[in-house]
Amino acid sequence: MRTFFKTITLVALIYFQILFGASKDPVRGVNGMVVSASDYASEIGLQILMKGGNAVDAAVATGFALSVSYPSAGNIGGGGFFVIHFSDGKQTTIDFREKAPAAVHKDIYLDSDGNFLPDLSQKGWTSSGVPGSPAGLIFAHEKYGSLPFEELIQPAIDLARNGIILSYGAVSSLNSVYTEFLKYPASKMIFTKNGAKYSEGDTLFQTDLAKTLEFIRDLKKDGFYKGKTADLIVKQSMENGGYLTKEDLENYSPVERVPVRGTYRGYDIISMAPPSSGGVALIEALNILENYDLKKLGWASSSYIHYIVESLKHVYADRAEYLGDPDFFDVPADKLISKTYSKELFNLIDEKAKRPSEISRSTFNLYESPQTTHYSIVDKFGNAVSATVTLNSSYGNKIVVDGAGFIMNNEMDDFSSKPGSPNQFGLIGSAANSIEPGKRMLSSMTPTIILQNLKPVLIIGSPGGSTIITTVLQVVLNCLDFGMDIQTAIDLGRFHNQWLPDSIDYEDFLISEDVRNNLTNRGHKFGSKTSLGRAEGILWDRKNKIWTGATDPRGYGKAVGY
Ligand code: GLY
Repeated sequence: MRTFFKTITLVALIYFQILFGASKDPVRGVNGMVVSASDYASEIGLQILMKGGNAVDAAVATGFALSVSYPSAGNIGGGGFFVIHFSDGKQTTIDFREKAPAAVHKDIYLDSDGNFLPDLSQKGWTSSGVPGSPAGLIFAHEKYGSLPFEELIQPAIDLARNGIILSYGAVSSLNSVYTEFLKYPASKMIFTKNGAKYSEGDTLFQTDLAKTLEFIRDLKKDGFYKGKTADLIVKQSMENGGYLTKEDLENYSPVERVPVRGTYRGYDIISMAPPSSGGVALIEALNILENYDLKKLGWASSSYIHYIVESLKHVYADRAEYLGDPDFFDVPADKLISKTYSKELFNLIDEKAKRPSEISRSTFNLYESPQTTHYSIVDKFGNAVSATVTLNSSYGNKIVVDGAGFIMNNEMDDFSSKPGSPNQFGLIGSAANSIEPGKRMLSSMTPTIILQNLKPVLIIGSPGGSTIITTVLQVVLNCLDFGMDIQTAIDLGRFHNQWLPDSIDYEDFLISEDVRNNLTNRGHKFGSKTSLGRAEGILWDRKNKIWTGATDPRGYGKAVGY
């Protein structure tokens, strides 16, 4: 029966992919769609939808699959956020962000002279927060899933045990941190080929990870946060100067939070609330930009870039000052996303570029690692999930838990390690995001769902650290203001300004000489030419009444629909 079902599913997959195959056009789907950074994970999510699972089921299955097939950011050793819209109109978010261990204090990453020691917050066991992903995925399934949990996690177990064939993208990613993997025996054992680099077409087997996923399958939360897996984490952390304890793991629980809500030109927006800054920042930016006729300014014209950059300066200055874990800091989110406040900010923007000090007198180190991953899902019932997960840096702290087969996060670096006084770059952070035991570190992840007449029309998100917000913003504007299809909206060049540093980063070919000169005359400065974000999105094609999906050409993901 199982084999019969699998065959039918595969035939259906092939049929629908021929019918709705990927090309320069977006991928299309009548019933549902999954878009993720990994072809394996997208296919697994789609199979769950085709079995009759809902979008949450598919998100849980895709999430576990990404921990196997996209180990740079898909994870069980890190955390993330789900934003969910249900067909009955209810909306929620699940916060499974990592938490600071109980033993930390605000100065753990400073030497006796008060100097910031980034190696401690970015590398080794000292950099790890308490992982949230297993608890988050289990919680999502228990509360909102419909298929048995075993059916959602088993495909990931099979993938880990039977192996994944490494694509060009997977090999490039693994080998970019090859020398780091050599430093840690379990990382070397799994993520190098007996100490050599993997090649395209090699198979990556992850049997220890398969066993850990089996513990989670059989014991749910206790399969990770207690017993053998927890013992391995705590022992290795303690032996290497880390802060994690058994109590930290046992006490971890995800939080269901009300989404942040806004409107933009008649659309409703729901996005991730603090401890992510993403939703608040996106809505604050859209509120300011609603005051401009962006279409009339012209896409990527100097005026278009100028007004977006000037809006973003206010958004990122507010982010630095006011955003942190709402369980520890009174975040004024309602004010920041109010239309009245955005009108005040709009009135401060003029024809010339403002210097950061004219926006806010505080300064802030906004560096965040750009390695994270997003997936978007809709089902035939009208439910949608927008999910972003991360280990922080690419492959987190690069340390595989020996015997458990998964990589630990280095998310502690997302805290402001030295609030209130200048760090090595002369930058300071705010108390909102200072390190405290049990606190969640501020994130920029922006999993977002946009609705029209109470129905989802755009499900979008991206990796990119602090550039996540500007990436999501620009894809949203491309779709809503310029009517682009989702593939074009994601493909086109992007730019980024985050108030500090005082410069515009941009992608190659986006800014012509002419536009650059105009922007320079307005007082703008330019930073690096770089790649910005890897968005994975789904857009409702109103005309053809069909879902359209696109993966970002900057990555190697896949959109699949049926
Ligand atoms: N670590 C990236 C983020 O949470 O935004």
